[in-house]
Amino acid sequence: MDSPFKIEGPIFIGRSWAEYLKMFDLDLEKLNNTKILDCAAGASSFTYFLSKKGIDVSAADLLYDKDPEFLKRRCQEHLHALVESLGKMEYEFVWSFFKNLNDLKSHRMQSCLDFNRDYKINRGKKYIKADLTQLPFEDESFDMVLCAHLLFIYDHRLNWNFHLSAVEEMIRVSSNEVRIYPLVKNKGKKSIFVDKLIKNLPEGLETEIVEVDYQFRRGGNEMLRIVKE
Ligand SMILES: C[S@@+](CC[C@H](N)C(=O)[O-])C[C@H]1O[C@@H](n2cnc3c(N)ncnc32)[C@H](O)[C@@H]1O
Repeated sequence: MDSPFKIEGPIFIGRSWAEYLKMFDLDLEKLNNTKILDCAAGASSFTYFLSKKGIDVSAADLLYDKDPEFLKRRCQEHLHALVESLGKMEYEFVWSFFKNLNDLKSHRMQSCLDFNRDYKINRGKKYIKADLTQLPFEDESFDMVLCAHLLFIYDHRLNWNFHLSAVEEMIRVSSNEVRIYPLVKNKGKKSIFVDKLIKNLPEGLETEIVEVDYQFRRGGNEMLRIVKE
């Protein structure tokens, strides 16, 4: 079924596993018995890398019905476009994780290639086509559900109903917790939906804004944790 919620031409790129560990404040050593779902995972190398370490992780994305060559091309094109536009406003970003634009480009290209290699083998197994508002999983299928760079940063294009439905869906398929990163848009502006979401969550959930050791967008060193009691 088509989702009522769409973004036009979603950016199909992916942060690396190393960025994910920092963005979500995760310790690899403590994840051995944690079943994880990465939602709107794009071309991230998180699933590839953690699976290699023996951790049970799956990824979901609207575009995982596309073939590997299509996604490789799209990721490379979108990464080039992103780097070009970042080049015009480098001063708006924090250059700590990445030394410079070239460093960012090669790091993210590696993620794209690692993802693609794994996707060719595990498409339909670990990589599941899914709309965030209608996840094809049973209740409480995962211990931890992650979502990076889809919610909050596109609050000008993805409306409040999308945000609420997506987060309710992630809570439904998680037995323990949901983590969302980042909470800010460009120039360090916090999304209008962060506080509204926290106020509108169902009863029986604890929320916490956690400071993380990663920042690329200014003010982007915070992650939202939603924990089932
Ligand atoms: C900017 S990328 C983020 C990728 C990765 N999570 C990261 O942080 O690098 C956004 C991803 O969201 C996916 N997407 C867009 N709308 C979606 C939806 N309704 N359900 C699931 N995925 C969606 C896009 O296909 C794209 O891969």
